[in-house]
Amino acid sequence: MSADDSLVTARHFAYLAERTRGDDDFLRQLKEAAAEVGIPKIWIGPAQASFMQILLELQRAKDVVEVGTLAGYSAISMARALPDDGHVHTIELSPKHADFAAEWIARSDVADKITLHRGAGSDVLATLPPISADAIFLDADKSGYPAYLAEGLRILRPGGLVMADNAFAFGQLFDERPSDREVGAVRAFNDVMAKEPRVHGCIVPLGDGLWVGVVEGA
Ligand SMILES: C[S@@+](CC[C@H](N)C(=O)[O-])C[C@H]1O[C@@H](n2cnc3c(N)ncnc32)[C@H](O)[C@@H]1O
Repeated sequence: MSADDSLVTARHFAYLAERTRGDDDFLRQLKEAAAEVGIPKIWIGPAQASFMQILLELQRAKDVVEVGTLAGYSAISMARALPDDGHVHTIELSPKHADFAAEWIARSDVADKITLHRGAGSDVLATLPPISADAIFLDADKSGYPAYLAEGLRILRPGGLVMADNAFAFGQLFDERPSDREVGAVRAFNDVMAKEPRVHGCIVPLGDGLWVGVVEGA
């Protein structure tokens, strides 16, 4: 097998997930409660959460911005990787999701490290000050990603971390007739990221494909 080949199968994912820190009781309960009230189970997996925590710790990130809160799982996970004076600003459009996340963030061990912003990603990102964040995580409507990236490049500090989920388009990246209407937007964003000269990025084959990039110029 050459260095250009890759061999990552569902079995490999299961293997690595078994060897990665999993959810604690609180996060398990959060997911159960979210499912009970009909919130879709589209949160990131525990192995991806661990990987993102490691990236944030390596970067010594303090200020993180997230687009797409859902039930609060990833926001709580990321906040746990930050120092005491660190903070996650997370943005959610759906009132139902925001109400649930607000309740569970308030009950979490990192309640004072998370601010939940209600509204559309583009509207809220525009209110955040320039050069004020160490990392941004995009995990919402895929057609919005190019605009979120543009805002992210305004908000992030030099050397800031860009993470964007679902680069593999819900497993339908190469489907000729994908059933998910966001696949085209994912493909378009992947090309935007690949060509963005200010970001040195790479798709990490974890979960549904995670873009990880560093803003050049640190
Ligand atoms: C995949 S889920 C986020 C999962 C979450 N990051 C996690 O892993 O725990 C996507 C979320 O983005 C929200 N969303 C969709 N469009 C949005 C927009 N324009 N602005 C902000 N949030 C949006 C959805 O309501 C949904 O809750």
